[in-house]
Amino acid sequence: MTDRYAVFGNPVGHSKSPMIHADFAGQTGQDIDYTAIEPPIGELAAAWQAFCAEGGRGANVTVPFKADAFELCDTLSHRARRAGAVNTLILGGNGRTYGDTTDGVGLVRDLAYHRVALAGKRVLIVGAGGAVRGILEPLLGEQPSEVVVVNRTAEKARQLGEDFADLGTIKGGGFDSLDGKFDVVINGTSASLSGDLPPLPDDLFANGAWAYDMMYGVEPTVFLTWAGPRGAKLLDGLGMLVEQAAESFYLWRNQRPDTAPVRARLRQSLN
Ligand code: ATR
Repeated sequence: MTDRYAVFGNPVGHSKSPMIHADFAGQTGQDIDYTAIEPPIGELAAAWQAFCAEGGRGANVTVPFKADAFELCDTLSHRARRAGAVNTLILGGNGRTYGDTTDGVGLVRDLAYHRVALAGKRVLIVGAGGAVRGILEPLLGEQPSEVVVVNRTAEKARQLGEDFADLGTIKGGGFDSLDGKFDVVINGTSASLSGDLPPLPDDLFANGAWAYDMMYGVEPTVFLTWAGPRGAKLLDGLGMLVEQAAESFYLWRNQRPDTAPVRARLRQSLN
């Protein structure tokens, strides 16, 4: 029987995950079926159970279900526990559900793909919501010289510093606490979608710095449009999306797909 996988989201019609995983499956010769499922808000657990009863083996979980997915798991990876969120569900042979989050690995692998080093670099993260919480453990593992998190609600950034203190030092605060230039600036706020730009100083970027937006779209995001003229090299979150999917695929199928052709196809599909 063909193994079934799915992405759960609401809305989910726009999701690129079915296309990405069909590509990975074709590449690696895996016989899988991957669909998009849109449970009503608050009904992820019931939808996942029904899916498993019909041959489901694993799933990706996207907005707004990542915290619900965390709640329904029987066991969790270390990084998922730390993030308080799950984007990858795996049905074990014992009928138990294991949860992991691959977003942070996706970001770190995407940066590596583009030869953007984090080791020894000064890194700024803008935002302190769920998306940022999900990337901090893998990011700190890359040994940047300093990690600063700034957020509109300064207290949330400070809290992150406390919650991750055993993994490394995060200096958390409000935008007014910003000081000096950075080698890598990552936008993890949803502001790039709403059109608002957080109040960042013009002289934020060190020589050769990178601006990375975890969001992506047909047009460059508001953050990248701002960062370009201020001297930064630009990357959007499309590669992160493909890399987090590749890590999920690896967890399910124990095979590492080549992300390069999928990146190209996905970029083309945006135009
Ligand atoms: P996600 O799961 O996408 O991280 P979230 O947990 O709601 O969603 O977090 C959204 C992030 O974007 C937060 O850091 C939020 O700042 P606050 O904590 O102050 O709310 C940030 N954000 C959203 N809209 C913003 C805006 N217009 N300007 C600045 N920051 C914004």
